[in-house]
Amino acid sequence: MTKGELKYEGKAKKVYATDNPETYIVEYKDDATAFNAQKRGTIANKGIVNNAVTSRLFTYLASFDVPTHFIEQLSEREQLVKAVKIIPIEVIVRNKTAGSFAKRYGVEEGIVLTPTVLEWCYKSDALGDPPLNDVTAIALGLASPDELETMMDLAMDINDGLITFFANRGLELIDFKIEFGKLPSGEIILADEISPDTCRLWDTASGERMDKDRFRRDLGNVEGAYQEVFKRVMGDANA
Ligand code: TMP
Ligand code: ASP
Repeated sequence: MTKGELKYEGKAKKVYATDNPETYIVEYKDDATAFNAQKRGTIANKGIVNNAVTSRLFTYLASFDVPTHFIEQLSEREQLVKAVKIIPIEVIVRNKTAGSFAKRYGVEEGIVLTPTVLEWCYKSDALGDPPLNDVTAIALGLASPDELETMMDLAMDINDGLITFFANRGLELIDFKIEFGKLPSGEIILADEISPDTCRLWDTASGERMDKDRFRRDLGNVEGAYQEVFKRVMGDANA
């Protein structure tokens, strides 16, 4: 598989064309940003952890029929994926209050949300990823009503799968962000990544933060937490 032209460089990954127009190579970087890139740094070996964790999780999700862009892991930092057009909507699922939700509504972190909350944000760094509701997303032409429904159903299935996966590894899934892509056929599939950059994971026993909040909030031992998540996810606990 030859790596072609750089198609896109994001904050944490680079996407390259390949000699097959139906596939891309994604390369995971150690660069870390927070608060719409106002805070910048690197987390040693984060790219290796996030590539491995995403590869493992996407394979797991595919095993119960969640369609994903993942094809195979190529190297420590690279994976081969199906070429999709990313739908510019960040889909956030929240099981417990945390982060911007806790701040926005003036509630403590760690309160169970019933029902599970699903939020849409417009994926735009220039605008700081502003929130969207269904009607706004449709009126802006970002997705059709059917596409929103598909993304919502898939997001809830993914949440159910991930809660169990992480619980079996002593981690509580507090919330996460996912992105979907569209194939030329119009099919919507899970794309981007699922990693400690894009999930909040709290150690079940101690409540310790095991995710990017350690970087965002200067909690220390950022690399250690990423390595611990890597160890637990790659270990052979029951899925
Ligand atoms: P939030 O509470 O800051 O809105 O974050 C909700 C979840 O989404 C959390 O698991 C972190 C993840 N997230 C991203 O993956 N990318 C982002 O740019 C932001 C703001 C959050
Ligand atoms: N990655 C995002 C940014 O730099 C924010 C975050 O994950 O907190 O804006």
